[in-house]
Amino acid sequence: MTATAEAAPIRSLAAARLDRCEMAGAAGSAGEPIVTAKITAPEVPDWAVERPRITKLIAQGARWCPLTVLTGLPGAGKTIALAWWAAAAPGAVAWISLDDHDNRPGVFWFYVIAALRESGVAVPKSLSAGPLSRASDPVFLLQLASVLAAADPPVTLVLDDLHLLTDPKLLDGLDYVLRNTGPGLRLVVSSRTDPLLPLNRYRLAGQLAEIGADDLALSTAEVGQVLARHGIALPAGSLEFLARRTEGWAAGARLAALCVGTHPRPASPAAPDQAAMLLVDQLTEREREVLRYYSRPFSRAEVASEMHLSVNTVKSHLKSIYRKLAATCRGEAVRRARQLDLI
Ligand SMILES: Nc1ncnc2c1ncn2[C@@H]1O[C@H](COP(=O)(O)OP(=O)(O)OP(=O)(O)O)[C@@H](O)[C@H]1O
Ligand SMILES: [Mg+2]
Repeated sequence: MTATAEAAPIRSLAAARLDRCEMAGAAGSAGEPIVTAKITAPEVPDWAVERPRITKLIAQGARWCPLTVLTGLPGAGKTIALAWWAAAAPGAVAWISLDDHDNRPGVFWFYVIAALRESGVAVPKSLSAGPLSRASDPVFLLQLASVLAAADPPVTLVLDDLHLLTDPKLLDGLDYVLRNTGPGLRLVVSSRTDPLLPLNRYRLAGQLAEIGADDLALSTAEVGQVLARHGIALPAGSLEFLARRTEGWAAGARLAALCVGTHPRPASPAAPDQAAMLLVDQLTEREREVLRYYSRPFSRAEVASEMHLSVNTVKSHLKSIYRKLAATCRGEAVRRARQLDLI
């Protein structure tokens, strides 16, 4: 991870150089600088929790389908899941961490060839000696497809952050190469949104493995493991609350763990859990007051009358309270609020 951050200036220099090559129609030969961090699978951080369920889904996809797509919001855990899988993948894995600069055929294919070579595929020199601006040339794509079709053992190409690629020529070329390589190439991609590849065609042909937000969401037990890596243990109820509150969002669970790690631990087990507290937007004074009435056997109309409010105002306070406490009914909202010492 640190290596990637440190490589950033080099990356922009290389991208700038590639830009110039492309504009000038110069050769993207083997002499061009390659940012190795971009074609190296990131190391799995030591605090990361192993997720065998996801690793298995990726492995099955890569084994049986030409195309495997992991889709999820930022921070859903796509890159870390891919890195876990890649670290133990049985065959050759070529990796590209995409960035905005790669959204041009010349730059993209330049890195594809570099990554394939890095993974052990013998890509002939003639394929990298052509002008970068001709990288969408059907002849180039056909030659690459035929090299990959003969790849033995087959190679899996990982494209991390494929949502950054939108150039139609580039994506058509990628689809073309994938369609024409047979089992020699497997494509495994991560993307924040559905990648702009003809997914329906792959889906209908049974050639697409899809790993979505629901698959990537951390289970309650996995949220517990993320916290445990930071030496934090929550009671079952609070852990469940945190998992629900974060909706299994990996980055959220870890943020909670980091926040708690930098705050003093609760003085007693009865004190509210700070991990949960940190994720709860503070209830306003008025909302707490509504909740206090609501914790007694008052109807909404009675709460409204006691507080000199309209029933509609009480309703909108309750809606906001339910949202903030991730509650679905009165009993749950009151219980949560008591658990968190809010009333
Ligand atoms: N297995 C895991 N164990 C612990 N924390 C994790 C795990 N997976 C993800 N996280 C947490 O979530 C953060 C985001 O993970 P990751 O970079 O894999 O998300 P992403 O889906 O690739 O996001 P983006 O779309 O921004 O690239 C990590 O920095 C980490 O804090
Ligand atoms: Mg990522």
